Amino acid sequence: MYIKHLSLAHFRNYETAEVELKPGVNLLVGPNGQGKTNLVEAIRYLSTLSSHRVAGYVPMIRQEQPQAVVRALASFDDRDMLIELELNRTTPNKARVNKSPAARVRDILGYVNSVTFAPEDLDIVKRDPSNRRAFIDELVVQVWPRFAGVYSDYERVLKQRNTLLKTARQTGAKGSALSTLDAWDQSLISYGSEIIAARLDLVERLRPHLFEAYQSIAIANNEPKILVRSSLLGSAIVQSDEDAENLEFITITDRQEIEELYRSKLTLVRPKELERGITLVGPHRDDLVLMLGTLPAKGYASHGESWSYALALRLASIALLRAETRSGDPILILDDVFAELDAGRRERLAAMVANNEQVLITAAVAEDVPQQLIATVFRVASGQVTNG
Ligand SMILES: Nc1ncnc2c1ncn2[C@@H]1O[C@H](COP(=O)(O)OP(=O)(O)OP(=O)(O)O)[C@@H](O)[C@H]1O
Ligand SMILES: [Mg+2]
Repeated sequence: MYIKHLSLAHFRNYETAEVELKPGVNLLVGPNGQGKTNLVEAIRYLSTLSSHRVAGYVPMIRQEQPQAVVRALASFDDRDMLIELELNRTTPNKARVNKSPAARVRDILGYVNSVTFAPEDLDIVKRDPSNRRAFIDELVVQVWPRFAGVYSDYERVLKQRNTLLKTARQTGAKGSALSTLDAWDQSLISYGSEIIAARLDLVERLRPHLFEAYQSIAIANNEPKILVRSSLLGSAIVQSDEDAENLEFITITDRQEIEELYRSKLTLVRPKELERGITLVGPHRDDLVLMLGTLPAKGYASHGESWSYALALRLASIALLRAETRSGDPILILDDVFAELDAGRRERLAAMVANNEQVLITAAVAEDVPQQLIATVFRVASGQVTNG
């Protein structure tokens, strides 16, 4: 699929913008701070309801405005669809598909698929587990949009269970509090196991694509492989993301078995949870280990290898979405990456992405972008987009 037309109103530094995008490569050029990333962020947000820059959405609403609007006319094989999103500072956000209001904002997930690669992605390889969970979870939702509901149910149960644990800690764990806790455990186990099983399934599906993408971008004979560490296993009680390295690897994919492990680990950690007032077991505690050959990339891979790994994760995501969803090629967004790549990797990346149905590239100067990717060019200056 590709986006034919993008409209922005009061989004970040844009007052309004009307951009006629083309299939193939669209290059956005302009000096720093002009609105290049803001524009691709709008598309990314419409596609995943998450940003590569902020956790919430309020920073995306233009300063001193109550509301931002992002509207995209997306072209699929056989039809066009208009996807609209309204971000409101004080009232709930709203979405429309072909002008009909969506019951929930998350109902727009699955229409516009996109994969973004940006320098921040190095964090997936190098930094704490939350970055890797965000990577895999965003992909799970893109492949199976109904998981947006499962994640939000899990978050809700987790929050309520944590509140209950805190209350129980203050009042002393008594009978009634403990039986309420048992009831929440059921929901936690059910949603949490679904998430764990989905992550494992996805990691398995991603494996061949990751292998291929890494070989193509790094031209190194080194095998990337993702392993999943789980708080469900063993007797170690992991109290924060800092000691995620003590977790064991999980390979079990059977839902029933995962649920049983979950239940027995919850029993084991119950005293600790009551003492701390937080939930210590579940997908919110788990981690992915990005292996390169026999060593984890985090802490061992060189800077260049880490870059190749991060890029390979995104290219593999593209290949997976192409294979597993009905909307064909997702839109590939390359935000400010060419300036950071050496000549060899620039050329290899260009060769790999040139045929994607639509690619959006941002760069401060066009010279950083390989010649073969220079097709449709837009100039971006103080929140204005012009053909150039
Ligand atoms: N909510 C907002 N309201 C108004 N302006 C905003 C808002 N959020 C961000 N901006 C402005 O947008 C500009 C940043 O735009 P953007 O990140 O798109 O730059 P860029 O063109 O990608 O630059 P670079 O080449 O440095 O990456 C900043 O000047 C920032 O102050
Ligand atoms: Mg930028």
